[in-house]
Amino acid sequence: MTAPAAIRFSSVTRRYGRRVVLDDISLELAPGARLGLIGPAAAGKSVICKLACGLEPVDGGTIDILGTRVTGRREAELGGLRRRIGMLFQNYALFDFLTVAENVAFPLEQRGELTAAEIAVRVTDRLRAVGLAGSEGKLTAELSGGMKKRVGIARATVIDAEFVIYDEPSAGLDPVTTQKIYDLLDADQQRTRATVLAVSSDVTALATFVDEIAFLYRGKIVYRGPAATIADAPDPLVRQFVRGDLEGPLDEKMAAT
Ligand SMILES: Nc1ncnc2c1ncn2[C@@H]1O[C@H](COP(=O)(O)OP(=O)(O)O)[C@@H](O)[C@H]1O
Ligand SMILES: [Mg+2]
Repeated sequence: MTAPAAIRFSSVTRRYGRRVVLDDISLELAPGARLGLIGPAAAGKSVICKLACGLEPVDGGTIDILGTRVTGRREAELGGLRRRIGMLFQNYALFDFLTVAENVAFPLEQRGELTAAEIAVRVTDRLRAVGLAGSEGKLTAELSGGMKKRVGIARATVIDAEFVIYDEPSAGLDPVTTQKIYDLLDADQQRTRATVLAVSSDVTALATFVDEIAFLYRGKIVYRGPAATIADAPDPLVRQFVRGDLEGPLDEKMAAT
């Protein structure tokens, strides 16, 4: 018997008002696979991330996460599943009334498996890994955007989740920090063998981390192929987007974003 997909979207549609953001999308990730997701601004990449951890309802289709059908379930039924997923939100979603250490400790405390002392060790280790040793007691309001991103990454990886979702892990970071972050995410995945869904506008750095890249455009996944050769993808839309060419089949409005 083959293992069930870590994540499966079947004909998923998501609308906001009259705008159809995701239009009949099907997407599957095998356990341990690493998929990058790219596309123009407002294409729906963050919506896919939220759906992939069961945080948004759908208007059509079904979603299975780690073998559990989440569509149609009530919020209260999804807590246990969410504790197996690590998520870095694009807007950080840190608790501003908690310290850095308390934010990172949060998912471990939710799981309730470790003692306070064990949690403290894990938290310190994660903060060191993201280059934030010594920032344990800071409040998130004191942090720069890049530091918040790294706290978010520490929090997303602290539980050794089976499935991790990184929404723009390198946005706003300089190129050296970006590569360090991807190296860290890579080392982490090698250790945990987690399934990865990663969204990034930095396609070159993303391609060093994931095996495959999918391109989201006008509500559809119009392409999915190997990350290493994404700049030479057979689809001219993808090539134009990745290379940043001004001329090509991309919507003018979208090429400009
Ligand atoms: N909760 C929401 N309510 C209304 N519109 C939303 C909501 N979340 C996302 N959208 C809309 O869906 C589209 C896709 O958003 P998003 O997934 O954030 O794009 P991106 O690909 O840049 O991550 C945008 O037009 C956005 O305004
Ligand atoms: Mg987004």
